[in-house]
Amino acid sequence: MYRLQIENILILSGSNVFFDRALESSLKAQAQALFARKHEEAFFLSCPETDITPIVQGAKALAQRFKKMLVLGIGGSALGTIAAIQALPLQAKERQVVVLSNLDPFTVGETLDRFDPHDTVVCCVTKSGSTVETLVQTEVFAEKIYDSFGRRGLEERLVIITDPDSGPARRIARSLGCLSFDVPPKLGGRYSVLSAVGLFPLAFAGVDCTSLVQGASKVFGTAEASLRMERPLDHPSLFSALVHASMFSSKSVRVLWAYGDRLQGFVQWFCQLWAESLGKDGRGQTPVGAIGSTDQHSLLQLFIGGPDDKCYTFLTLGNPRHDLVVPLDPLLDEAIQEFAGKTVFECFDALRMGTMAALLEKGLPVVRIHIPNLDATALGALFAHFELETALSGFLLGLNPFDQPGVEAGKAFAHGLLGRADKAHFGLVARKLLGEEKDG
Ligand code: PA5
Repeated sequence: MYRLQIENILILSGSNVFFDRALESSLKAQAQALFARKHEEAFFLSCPETDITPIVQGAKALAQRFKKMLVLGIGGSALGTIAAIQALPLQAKERQVVVLSNLDPFTVGETLDRFDPHDTVVCCVTKSGSTVETLVQTEVFAEKIYDSFGRRGLEERLVIITDPDSGPARRIARSLGCLSFDVPPKLGGRYSVLSAVGLFPLAFAGVDCTSLVQGASKVFGTAEASLRMERPLDHPSLFSALVHASMFSSKSVRVLWAYGDRLQGFVQWFCQLWAESLGKDGRGQTPVGAIGSTDQHSLLQLFIGGPDDKCYTFLTLGNPRHDLVVPLDPLLDEAIQEFAGKTVFECFDALRMGTMAALLEKGLPVVRIHIPNLDATALGALFAHFELETALSGFLLGLNPFDQPGVEAGKAFAHGLLGRADKAHFGLVARKLLGEEKDG
């Protein structure tokens, strides 16, 4: 059992976990190697040092003119924004931000039917600038704006966040002359929430982006300080990387179980980060997201009774609503008296503790991260914690946490099938693999 804390943001504790002594001996060197790459492929570590003023001011100016923002993007260009919008309470948001991530024609069609270009600005987010889903969506929504307001109106209602120099999205931004922001070229998509990718839509929503970035800065800053003091094991993110890298080959599944509906998006953000960063070279650990208490009635039986191939990270939130009390109603059945007079949170937390106890009773490895008050600062810290833990796990395990060759392969085949000249070969191979060549 251990307990580590970063100021009042994040408290981490664990039971039945272990760490590999060989990995432990390389922890400091690997963490230093990672921080040494902070201006290269580990650019996410530099995000909190970037001046976010132009991003925030640009978003706030648009928020004066438009009531809503429709974000078009997928994977790392969408999941962090979705996570933050869901996680922060309503008071933290002044404007509505909707993210259209998938290209499912049903969802695209329904969103288009509801889309009102009079009060909605569209924000296309794509680091590469060439992702099929995002470009198709952008074309579809741009046409609707164009039909209502012409080219000038489109220029005012479209924002593009993409690579500073290359890619179709950058070319569109240049030819249209619309507002645009850069995704730093060295920053990986799934690590980009604290760049313009996430900050621009979040600032439009009214989220306190300065605090968000400060929370992340605290995590990275304290990690570097712990390395300087030769005490890497004192830092929650470095320690957690060691623990999870140690369980990487013995546990093929990593469960992130959040007790709180508002963390649903965060869980999905993490699953992408862990899967895409560490699933390569024939190795990997499948991330599974769960929400409590709902999934006690779905996944828990498998976790307790199924194979012992999983490790568990619980996310729990403090600062609950103490005013929600189960009433002392005379009409209640005797059995319900068990709850009467208790807060809803007390009942909810008993369910969480019951689940953790059931796993611990089986000797299963459980880590708990507690966030006493999930505000923008704490959320920034949480993003940073998991980014650092994931990237460092990759370094410890000898896996490159920043590339995604499997994702790129799927993209190349799709472009080939859609007729892109420089990907024609991929189209042919895909048709052959799918057995459709003879049909054509
Ligand atoms: O993490 C990644 O690199 C990917 O998940 C990308 O974010 C995703 O494929 C979208 O790519 P892009 O931002 O280039 O449109």
